[in-house]
Amino acid sequence: MCALDIRPAIGTERLILRGPTAADIPAMAELANDIGVAGNVARMPYPYAVEHAEEGLARIAREDPRREATFAIEHRDFGFLGMLGFHEKQPGRSEVGYWLGRPFWGRGYATEALTAALRWAKSDWRRNVVWAGHFADNPASGQVLIKAGFLYTGDVEPQDCLARDCKVASRKMVWLA
Ligand SMILES: CC(C)(COP(=O)(O)OP(=O)(O)OC[C@H]1O[C@@H](n2cnc3c(N)ncnc32)[C@H](O)[C@@H]1OP(=O)(O)O)[C@@H](O)C(=O)NCCC(=O)NCCS
Repeated sequence: MCALDIRPAIGTERLILRGPTAADIPAMAELANDIGVAGNVARMPYPYAVEHAEEGLARIAREDPRREATFAIEHRDFGFLGMLGFHEKQPGRSEVGYWLGRPFWGRGYATEALTAALRWAKSDWRRNVVWAGHFADNPASGQVLIKAGFLYTGDVEPQDCLARDCKVASRKMVWLA
């Protein structure tokens, strides 16, 4: 759990991004057990149970903080909203992903969290390039990425979606610091 404990907290007007803890497991399991959430990310199972949240947290605890960083997104008043993480799918290539529970969609939280996380990635984590991809049938995520400063590369690649149990076209995007 050391890697979690040293993760910095990133504050925004409404949110705190911080290392996830075991206290997040019940909310994580409840909010992620939604095909609208799990079906729009690559590696989240559906149905999503408490054991999946526990496994996810254990995986995060094993992250190498030089290559990966996963944050819980917490609202200053409402508590846990979702997750945001930077992962290295290919060596030296940081890719960001995120999800919020459905009750919290449509209020600008994802854009606020992603913008703050990118600021941290540039200033503290020393990343100049971050990649992302969103399923072509999920334009809301594309809009979040655009608002945070990402540009479409023009590449569209089939990507496995665990919850849907099929490949889904993923539109690739890039952010330059
Ligand atoms: C995608 C997701 C993160 C968006 O979170 P959010 O907090 O609602 O996002 P924001 O409010 O910051 O911005 C959403 C934007 O998408 C727009 N949008 C919503 N539905 C849309 C649609 N069907 N088509 C186009 N744009 C859409 C909103 O209008 C808003 O843009 P605007 O501020 O310019 O009006 C959230 O819905 C989610 O977690 N979904 C499930 C998991 C997921 O998709 N993760 C991303 C994987 S790439």
